[in-house]
Amino acid sequence: MRIDAILSRFGYCSRREAAQWVKQGRVRVDGVPVRSAAAKADPATVLVDGAPPEFLNGLYVAINKPLGCTCSHREQGNLIYDLLPQRWLARSGGVSTVGRLDKETSGLLLLTDDGAFLHALTSPKRHVPKIYELTTAEPIPESAVALFASGELLLNGETTPCLPAELCITSPCSARLTLHEGRYHQVRRMLAAVGAPVLTLTRIAIGPLTLDELNLASGEWVEINPAVFS
Ligand code: URA
Repeated sequence: MRIDAILSRFGYCSRREAAQWVKQGRVRVDGVPVRSAAAKADPATVLVDGAPPEFLNGLYVAINKPLGCTCSHREQGNLIYDLLPQRWLARSGGVSTVGRLDKETSGLLLLTDDGAFLHALTSPKRHVPKIYELTTAEPIPESAVALFASGELLLNGETTPCLPAELCITSPCSARLTLHEGRYHQVRRMLAAVGAPVLTLTRIAIGPLTLDELNLASGEWVEINPAVFS
């Protein structure tokens, strides 16, 4: 890959600005300062300001999404992307959330610049389990456990029932819900359908990854190994 393409791929600067970075001696290949932005190198041999390119093999990150921010690049107000280093956003290919959490939902969210990974995980065929912890404004009826498990719950405005989901009621107004799909506001709509509107909602696991084991405070992130989803 050309040096200017590498610098832009990993979000350091535009291809145009690369000549300046090279001139300033900020780019080395195998320890030797690069002379031209048009030179070619294996990105794995490049050091920029003394460090290898960040997320050389793709950006795969888990973040503990705080309440009050939106998983959107476009909306007004606080965005999840405001919490990320500018260099991540400047990577060619950009960075996206893998699916979304509502503005008023907190918890585990994945970010990537790998389109194939994103599509694989969000594909309706994939059924990666996601676990939510929730509290409600009204007691959750026991009957919701069987209804959610039945695969027969039809949400308002939908033509296909929800896939079977596991509800574990932990107190009259709190529960854990495991979903195998991701429909719009699904948890809130399922609980509303049984007369127990959601007050608070946190996603605590996606497939093998749990917020507990990742040990992330609100707004913190950590690199993950995408192979855990293979
Ligand atoms: N279900 C919801 O209702 N909201 C979320 O953010 C995720 C799942």
